[in-house]
Amino acid sequence: MDYQAHKTYFETAYKTGTDVWTHKPTNKQVAKLTSKLKKGDIILELGSGRGLFAKHLAEIGFRVIGLDFESAIVRKANEAIKDWKLEGKVGFLEGDALNIPLVNENFDGACDFGLFENLYKEDWPQYVKEIHRILKPGGLYLNVSLSSKTSGFFEFHPSASSTREFEKYGVHYYFFEGGEIKNIFKTHFEVVSQEVKPTEVQRGMNKLTLIETLFKKI
Ligand SMILES: C[S@@+](CC[C@H](N)C(=O)[O-])C[C@H]1O[C@@H](n2cnc3c(N)ncnc32)[C@H](O)[C@@H]1O
Repeated sequence: MDYQAHKTYFETAYKTGTDVWTHKPTNKQVAKLTSKLKKGDIILELGSGRGLFAKHLAEIGFRVIGLDFESAIVRKANEAIKDWKLEGKVGFLEGDALNIPLVNENFDGACDFGLFENLYKEDWPQYVKEIHRILKPGGLYLNVSLSSKTSGFFEFHPSASSTREFEKYGVHYYFFEGGEIKNIFKTHFEVVSQEVKPTEVQRGMNKLTLIETLFKKI
């Protein structure tokens, strides 16, 4: 599918500071993944945006690469590494999660906080294959996505929609049910844990419910 409108939206949001989803991550948010890895392990973050999750992971002792397809924010995040005093521990790369420009089986862990929900259904299998390809055998992957239990998102109410799909400002959103995420990944991953959580995280006007699923590569 064509994601040019998505790129334009993200570029504009980062440029104008209207990236309402960006927030400072906490240990609690990443612990599902990090508690099962060891310090020094290497993690790929898909859709790293301003890089705050990758920064946090590097600060607590992991080696991290953040991947994003919006070139200006990748440049900005790379420029910030020196100020963060994290040179050599984290780096940002421009690239598409559907065609990850990295070699096979190089990562102990991978994570996605809010990218997968933007993909069109047609691209789900390709995304699953790519995450599986870059992980080492037995590697872990944490997916944090919008849940169908979210009460409202802009003018959209997922529970009242049969498709649970919504477009806003040219960006596509999908609201998942727990079983659905498990099914999408089941050909390449087993489920370690899954939790549906109303979150304190507000994106603009909306209080979201998120599904956090931890997978292990099979
Ligand atoms: C909602 S933002 C979340 C950013 C970050 N994870 C956070 O929580 O602050 C989604 C990010 O994914 C990026 N993105 C969306 N689709 C992508 C794709 N196919 N490949 C790489 N990056 C993508 C966007 O540019 C954007 O930075």
